[in-house]
Amino acid sequence: MAQVTPLDRVAVITLDGLSGSGKSTLAKQLAVALNWSYIDSGAWYRALTWAVLQNGLAVDDSTQVLQVLSQIELTSDSDGMVVVDKQSLRDELRTQLIDKNVSAVADHFDVRDALNEKMRGLLAIENVKGVVADGRDAGTIIFANAPLKVFVEVPLEVRAQRRFEQQRKLDSDVTLTQVQHALSQRDSHDAHRGSAAPHPTDESYILDNSNQSVEQAVGRLLTWHQQIFAAK
Ligand code: DC
Repeated sequence: MAQVTPLDRVAVITLDGLSGSGKSTLAKQLAVALNWSYIDSGAWYRALTWAVLQNGLAVDDSTQVLQVLSQIELTSDSDGMVVVDKQSLRDELRTQLIDKNVSAVADHFDVRDALNEKMRGLLAIENVKGVVADGRDAGTIIFANAPLKVFVEVPLEVRAQRRFEQQRKLDSDVTLTQVQHALSQRDSHDAHRGSAAPHPTDESYILDNSNQSVEQAVGRLLTWHQQIFAAK
């Protein structure tokens, strides 16, 4: 008889999309609505970047990054907050220093493989009945067997306008052009990560998140969840 692995036992929904598409907000709320766990894969890259910098090592050297990964205990709590050596990290992961360095960490394919294995390991934890995971390659690579994969789409101009409105509360000098330029640079960096570049699969559901409220979008996701998982 074929062995049942945690990947078969635990229900998984993935949400992928570009920076500023709102996927994390939706994924978090969907996880709450379903009472499932939440994995923010971007936060895992950020946490590893934080640990590399704390150790004074080089983010662009994959051997050093892997060394740090092998020495820390990296996991996440049920809210999706990443925990490094028992320290929950939130604001530490959203600094400009991490923003500046995280892409270099995410560019190493051997680091990606190791981090993906750790994220998959969360499914083996007892009592996890379902997981909502978001990122760039959550549905294409990390949880490629997920029964429901969603790709969140929002045009660059709309993402930039939303980000600009958030950022100008913190920095009154920031301009829409600057924000749009930064997002477009992140998009093009993400697009050059080969198979890990954000893209929908043939089976992905496309969620246009440009013109609806969070409640409406989560409602749509819950409908898809019903359709896919009720049929199983
Ligand atoms: O979504 P975010 O801004 O928190 O992601 C942080 C970085 O990690 C960003 O450079 C994209 C990268 N990332 C990735 O390469 N693969 C993922 N599954 C998630 C994030």
